[in-house]
Amino acid sequence: MGSHFIKYILVKYPGYKVINFDKLTYAGNLENLREVENNPQYKFVQGDICDREAVNKVVEENKIDAIVNYAAESHVDRSIMDPDVFLRTEILGSFNLLEATKNFNLKKMVQVSTDEVYGSIEEGSFTEDSSFSPNSPYAAAKAGGDHLCRAYFVTYKTPIVVSHSCNFYGTNQFPEKLIPFFITNLIEGKKVPLYGDGKNVREWIHTSDHCRAIDVLLHQAEAGNVYNIGTGKELKNIEITKLILSEMEMGEEMIEPVKDRPGHDRRYSIDCSKLENDFGWKAEKDFETGLKETIAWYKNNPDWWQPLKNGEHAEYFKKQYLERK
Ligand code: DAU
Repeated sequence: MGSHFIKYILVKYPGYKVINFDKLTYAGNLENLREVENNPQYKFVQGDICDREAVNKVVEENKIDAIVNYAAESHVDRSIMDPDVFLRTEILGSFNLLEATKNFNLKKMVQVSTDEVYGSIEEGSFTEDSSFSPNSPYAAAKAGGDHLCRAYFVTYKTPIVVSHSCNFYGTNQFPEKLIPFFITNLIEGKKVPLYGDGKNVREWIHTSDHCRAIDVLLHQAEAGNVYNIGTGKELKNIEITKLILSEMEMGEEMIEPVKDRPGHDRRYSIDCSKLENDFGWKAEKDFETGLKETIAWYKNNPDWWQPLKNGEHAEYFKKQYLERK
């Protein structure tokens, strides 16, 4: 998601200088930024947000005036297998960025967070005033980072805005998430493992709409505010699976029902009327169109995802598969 935002900002604000500070963990991929690597307004610095000195150095040396924190360990299944790194990145990493924002008097920090901090909701939607009820190590770690943001605003007036977003989809997404995982499996002629009864509900936003929302928060939102970023496009996992199958002209025999994810949240739903009322922001991308484009992109770019899925990460996918058998 971070690479989409960098490209979006460089086009929309050609006068801005963008520093991409990234540890390049398994999901980080400089290939996604190939088209801007020679842009004089863009600079890549390899570093870890958990390293306080490195964060301070990059902020000071580049006279940074705002931070957008897209850095996260983001995959729920991985957080169940190995939570340590999630706690470090989400909590300690956010803490270091808050400290830098405070100590170097930055104008703004936007914390990109998730609707998962609110937990699961059977009916209705979470608002920004709903309490946190995280159910996975990933969601709990994100909630920890978000609580620190709140505390820094209340205690130090650090200029922080927190966003809680629904599920992203689009191009260049690491093929472990539902949509790219299923698309790439089907391209490879493999079945798609649907967890539990397949009736868990997620709300979906295209990467382009998410970029527009973070742009609004960065430039217009008042410090201390929290915003939900959603679309109202809620779908059961089985419904998405059928849409993908139909677009790829394949049948339901390609679905493999597997063991459920432990602690699997049943439904996420967020009310994002605050974002709409305050700034007139609305999602623009129609889901079916976005999904078609995403499928086409994965079909046309096997060189991007095949090494990720079958190379050094093959072990993860194998482990996941055995876990769910
Ligand atoms: O809600 C926002 C969150 O969405 C983000 O904060 C997270 O970083 C992001 O990973 C995502 O979390 P989910 O757990 O909802 O995404 P995931 O793509 O892993 O799974 C979506 C749904 O599909 C979920 O109900 C589990 C199910 N699923 C997932 C995979 C990978 C399957 O049925 N089979 C699968 O193989």
